[in-house]
Amino acid sequence: MMTETTLLQVGNPQLREISMPVELHLLGSEELIRFSNQLLELMQQYKGVGLAAPQIGLQKKILALGFEKSERRPLEKPIPRAVLINPTFTVLSNNLEEDYEACLSVGGNLMAKVPRFTHIYYQAYDPHGNTIEGEAKGLHARIIQHEIDHFDGILFLDRVQDTRTYGFVEEIKKAKPA
Ligand code: NI
Repeated sequence: MMTETTLLQVGNPQLREISMPVELHLLGSEELIRFSNQLLELMQQYKGVGLAAPQIGLQKKILALGFEKSERRPLEKPIPRAVLINPTFTVLSNNLEEDYEACLSVGGNLMAKVPRFTHIYYQAYDPHGNTIEGEAKGLHARIIQHEIDHFDGILFLDRVQDTRTYGFVEEIKKAKPA
């Protein structure tokens, strides 16, 4: 699994491609575990709360998520760091909530409000081939939806409904301190 070391940025047509599922015989392989660790490390290096494989040039359904403390969302409870392979979700509540999102492939500092489902049930494999499943709410559910969108070539920009909510993170913080 060869990847680029830098994050692809919006405008790069690779970000618009459809990602393929990881072949099940690769679960537990050294190759997949090494790639998963690389994805987690990159996410932390860039201080992201989520990162999808297509953002580093691999069109496969692999995502990393989680944080102990988010600088941008200091009040949020930690989400355990994990890599999800071939994740899917179903909606448990049709309730949608708008909140700010950003993306490491959109410079990282541009934010806008995006509506997302507030309560989902997700299923995936971990890199070792164990099944991971559970409910996710709030920010956790938001991150999963954002990262799975990357597998469909969708960026948060495409989902912004109120375009007047666009702003750079520093300006938004000044206007509305946490
Ligand atoms: Ni993103």
